[in-house]
Amino acid sequence: MLGPSGCGKTTLLRMIAGFNSIEGGDFYFNEERINDKEPSKRNIGMVFQNYAIFPHLTVRQNVEFGLKQRKLSKEQIKTQTDKFLKLMQIDTYQERLPERLSGGQQQRVALARALAIMPDVLLMDEPLSNLDAKLRVEMREAIRNIQKEVGITTVYVTHDQEEAMAVSDRVAIMKDGIIQHLGTPQDIYHRPENTFVATFIGRTNLLEGKLTQENGQMYVSVEQEAPFAIDVNTTEAQDVVVSIRPEEFQICTSGEGIKAEVLDSIFLGLNTHYYCKLGNGKVIEVVSESDLRSNVEKGSEVVLAVKSHKINVFDQNGETNYSKGM
Ligand SMILES: Nc1ncnc2c1ncn2[C@@H]1O[C@H](COP(=O)(O)OP(=O)(O)OP(=O)(O)O)[C@@H](O)[C@H]1O
Ligand SMILES: [Mg+2]
Repeated sequence: MLGPSGCGKTTLLRMIAGFNSIEGGDFYFNEERINDKEPSKRNIGMVFQNYAIFPHLTVRQNVEFGLKQRKLSKEQIKTQTDKFLKLMQIDTYQERLPERLSGGQQQRVALARALAIMPDVLLMDEPLSNLDAKLRVEMREAIRNIQKEVGITTVYVTHDQEEAMAVSDRVAIMKDGIIQHLGTPQDIYHRPENTFVATFIGRTNLLEGKLTQENGQMYVSVEQEAPFAIDVNTTEAQDVVVSIRPEEFQICTSGEGIKAEVLDSIFLGLNTHYYCKLGNGKVIEVVSESDLRSNVEKGSEVVLAVKSHKINVFDQNGETNYSKGM
């Protein structure tokens, strides 16, 4: 689940967990409606923004905690605890108290404790936001693997788009308490429901466009440039909003496309970002794979070919996506 700060992500998780009242709507775990079920009976594992581990218990005791409450045998408790201490890479300081751990280490204790009880549903609210970049990537892979292995339905809140794509089967984009788009990571990126989703996930250029029809074929022109054929779900000529991601342009020296002037470029290793000015003055962002020798020079006149099957065409309000196919 992704969305701007304050859109209601934590509130929704707290409703699932039973910590917030539910004024409307129903929550189901499989076929079971859980609106009125006791929070303690929901068998939920939780890792929230502020890791609440017990300060007076050692790392090992923290991980054991939920298991002891479940009255498992001593042996089962030991096996399960060892497994998750190791998976979360906290086995070397299992006898320490939390106050002698770093923030990232404490967060891993919280993760181990939540996973060890084999919950039916796992709720995670930015569980990795306090970890450094490298550990975050390692941990998200560990979470993904454990989650797949044990098969726990997980609702995962993050601000990190790449993390969202990496851990999820489905991504929900929320705005002002309303889910704007629920779909696979590919779906959300390539065929966003509306312009909010298109701009929230990844980078894009939102351009003014006009749809026209000729002999049953639809054409779109962007920013008053020459029209090109486009596959859309409407036959109505109209003003539209066209979303073209930076990588959906190709910089060419000649041929068909939109004429532009290169204003500036930033070399980022794998890719180079270009800022290009169109005929009407609009500046857009273009990304292309870096060339071995040189960037396209500042001030060059170029032609931007559009990968038209990839771009998205929205109605004038940006609420309906007319584009077809993936
Ligand atoms: N206890 C509360 N009483 C009243 N309003 C609250 C309460 N908790 C949160 N809110 C409000 O509800 C809205 C949603 O808050 P929530 O914490 O769910 O946002 P969020 O999407 O998790 O944001 P963030 O990404 O910053 O964590 C916010 O406008 C917030 O101010
Ligand atoms: Mg929150």
